[in-house]
Amino acid sequence: MIETSASAEDRLFQALSGVGAGYLVVVTGAGISLASGIPTFRGNDPDAVWSKSVMEMGTRSYFISDPIGSWSWYLSRFDQVLEKQPNPAHTALARMERWQQGRGGEFVLVTQNVDPLHERAGSEALVKVHGSADRARCIKDGCVNAAPSGSVARDTLDLTRFMAEPSREALPRCTVCNGLLRQHVLWFDEYYQEHNDYQWERVMDAAARADVMLFVGTSFAVGVTSLFLESAIKRSVPALSIDPGVDATPHPLVLSLPEKAEELLPGVMARLDNQESSDQSMSIR
Ligand code: APR
Repeated sequence: MIETSASAEDRLFQALSGVGAGYLVVVTGAGISLASGIPTFRGNDPDAVWSKSVMEMGTRSYFISDPIGSWSWYLSRFDQVLEKQPNPAHTALARMERWQQGRGGEFVLVTQNVDPLHERAGSEALVKVHGSADRARCIKDGCVNAAPSGSVARDTLDLTRFMAEPSREALPRCTVCNGLLRQHVLWFDEYYQEHNDYQWERVMDAAARADVMLFVGTSFAVGVTSLFLESAIKRSVPALSIDPGVDATPHPLVLSLPEKAEELLPGVMARLDNQESSDQSMSIR
């Protein structure tokens, strides 16, 4: 179902208002960070990074066979995300969390993005289900800095030697056990349950209990969005998807809002906040 742009804001406004004190679940993907200068994977933007190399190099087996190549590839492709700033769509979702909780409702934001922009914008009820580019972790089983719970902040690592001259000796290592460090992200040959930080139980609970699901900037290509989509369809939960891409309708029952997230979300949040303040002034009188 495709919504015309004239009424996309109205439909989103109605759906969000209608959650009331229920559970509002938002799922974001790469499209929300495009306006912050981070290319998508499968979008129409000229720098979209999707290619065979992502499937081959974004894997644990590639890291094991060639840790120098793996770190070099990550640093060249994904390190730039750490320098970026949130855009108005990230800020609007942080505002949405406070708005929903402020009226006694439940809220969670599940992002597939490894950039740090939702937390920089102020989101707190946040699940980074694919991990985080600003952290690394040890690969040695049993190490406190390894899965299932450990990780270290990227800015504690000195990568200058490796970046100047990539070599095995210059690879970042764990300060506890001297094991190799890896990216703290979910690779294509790994499971959502690999690390507690991915909060998979919370994700399944959100999919099972959501009263409204709002998808933003995702092409529904991987397992986590399939989980939400299947649950929305099975339980007849209202689901909306903000995505200006032409092939964006993931299912006939998902209301497609073909708008840019950074344009649609701030306007809707302003209306919702205004509605709340006018409701409060009505109740005072
Ligand atoms: N606002 C909203 N959506 C947008 C915008 C925008 N301004 N610009 C582009 N989009 C849409 C694109 O049309 C596309 O459908 O965002 C979507 C991004 O899709 P993908 O690049 O496939 O990103 P995502 O769904 O997050 O990918 C899922 O796949 O490769 C893996 O691990 C990676 O987390 C990633 C996962």
